[in-house]
Amino acid sequence: MDELKYYSSNFSFKSILSSFSYWPRLFKLLWEINKFYFILIIGCSLLQGLIPAFVIIATQEFINSIVSSQNSGAFSDVFFSFGLLAGATILNELVSVLRGYVERLYESLIGYRLNETIMSKSNDLPLESFENADVQDKLKRAQSEASYRPYQIFSQILSLISQAVTLFSVAAILIIWKWWVACLLIVFPLVSFISFLKLGQEEFDIHFRRAPKTRESWYLSFLLTKDNSFKEVKLFKLGSYLIDQYKRIFSGFFEEDKEIAKKRSFLSIRFQFLNELISAIIIFMIAFAAFNQEIMIGNLVGMIQAVTMTQGNSQGVVQGVLSLCQNSLYMKQLFAFLDLEVVKEEDDTNAEELGEIRSLEFRNVSFVYPNTPNLALKHVTFSLKKGETVAVVGKNGSGKSTMVKVLTQLYSSYEGEVLINNQDVRSYSKSAIRQRIGAVFQDFVHYEMSARNNIGFGNLQKIKDDESILNAAERSGVLPLINKLNKGIDSQLGRWFEDGQQLSGGQWQRIAIARAFMREADVYILDEPSSFLDPEAEADIFSRFQDLVKDKIGLFISHRFSSVKFADKIIVFDNGEIIEMGSHEELISLNGLYKDLYDTQVNALVRDEVQLQGV
Ligand SMILES: Nc1ncnc2c1ncn2[C@@H]1O[C@H](COP(=O)(O)OP(=O)(O)OP(=O)(O)O)[C@@H](O)[C@H]1O
Ligand SMILES: [Mg+2]
Repeated sequence: MDELKYYSSNFSFKSILSSFSYWPRLFKLLWEINKFYFILIIGCSLLQGLIPAFVIIATQEFINSIVSSQNSGAFSDVFFSFGLLAGATILNELVSVLRGYVERLYESLIGYRLNETIMSKSNDLPLESFENADVQDKLKRAQSEASYRPYQIFSQILSLISQAVTLFSVAAILIIWKWWVACLLIVFPLVSFISFLKLGQEEFDIHFRRAPKTRESWYLSFLLTKDNSFKEVKLFKLGSYLIDQYKRIFSGFFEEDKEIAKKRSFLSIRFQFLNELISAIIIFMIAFAAFNQEIMIGNLVGMIQAVTMTQGNSQGVVQGVLSLCQNSLYMKQLFAFLDLEVVKEEDDTNAEELGEIRSLEFRNVSFVYPNTPNLALKHVTFSLKKGETVAVVGKNGSGKSTMVKVLTQLYSSYEGEVLINNQDVRSYSKSAIRQRIGAVFQDFVHYEMSARNNIGFGNLQKIKDDESILNAAERSGVLPLINKLNKGIDSQLGRWFEDGQQLSGGQWQRIAIARAFMREADVYILDEPSSFLDPEAEADIFSRFQDLVKDKIGLFISHRFSSVKFADKIIVFDNGEIIEMGSHEELISLNGLYKDLYDTQVNALVRDEVQLQGV
């Protein structure tokens, strides 16, 4: 709502002025995208602006030459003026075809380039900013407008220039006759400016108020059209309920649109009527002058054309300025996103060389997610060293995944210290640290791409190295599956694109683990690697993992105690804190949370077995 106020209070004469301030930036952006097209389009529109006046003068000359040839009997002058008129008309056609061609190319180029700019800006953002709702809003707005608004504005500015050129060159024809007639035609449409400006403001306010609803409708259609939600939508028969909600949102929008369209029509009728009245009076005056033989018949035709054109272009200039004001607000949104401050993640000018990671340590680390009230990590202290396999357990929401995100430096606004090889992690470059860590996040990605990409993304340098990819697949136990796929590692995975082969949850998980194993890392982290795996697969993965991390650092988070109990060290999280730490036996003898969780799981298993035997 604040945003609405901000924008609407600015939509006034002030906003017109402030919109000018974006023009140099916009022009610079467009100029950098393609200088040749830029110049060509400006040239074409200036030419297109001048041609109408030229056509009028040529028409005037043509008719006058016919009239004079009737008196003098010499027809040659007619040829000349006809050639002039034909030339102007052909030039006009050629210029507009050329402009149309260049415009289409330039427009699509701008769309791609701006989306590219937005994507690389997104890529530069740290996770903290990325998860911020305000940043997400800015991103969405920039994204939805980026592909066409900047060009729209550019082309509006150009038509404005060309209309202004036409307006003044054509008006000059009338000024020579009676200056006040031209002034009247130019100034009157300005009166309508205020009314249309108010309407434009109203429309923009509505548009802004709609933003959350628009997002909601986008989400509804997303639920109905994406495969991961589609199954539930079908099973719970949510389709018509969701479509109804979508319809309700749009019928509200439609009513508002209708109201604005009505107001616009009434306003247009009123001004159009007055405009026509004025031009009728002026045309009558011109006819009267011709009747009194003050002007020639060719001038009569030319001046009548000049009246219509002056009026049309004057209105066009007013409308152009109006929509420019509105469009400039969208430019604000694009630049608001592009101007977001980014602490450059890859700034490693003063970074220390990071050799092998031999130890990792959290010293009194506390962390709170931005804009949330509670600490997600509270004074967390632990250390890991080469050759150790460490398991992390704890209830849902106890801070396990958060610890991994801080460890991989996805968040950097924590208190306390994270140390690598006994040195503050901040003294190394983030990319160097990440290069040496292979991780599978709890919400790992299913890339709707080839198996090669899905695994090779773990180490882009080796994406073309089949042996490394197959090796990683072997390590995560997914190789037999890949061998069965129709195109081996080049088979498309998922169902989104042609020839895609869908995998089971556990198979996707093994692929993600292979991706982490693809890295030649010193630290391997698996956040709930067994959540989709059957007990046998889990045991298999775990033994492969232990094998892999034999003289490295291995960290895994799991709710399954059958794997956890074999770790060298177990860290127990509760409510953001580490409350217990030690080997399985040590923790059992502590009789604390670990033992409780362990007993609950073991008892459940025993109960299941008893029930099974009872069947
Ligand atoms: N991106 C986020 N922004 C804000 N709060 C978050 C975010 N991610 C997690 N949290 C909050 O931080 C707390 C710890 O979450 P975390 O994901 O670390 O739990 P976890 O121990 O991994 O749980 P689980 O076993 O369910 O995976 C939770 O209260 C959660 O609501
Ligand atoms: Mg988690």
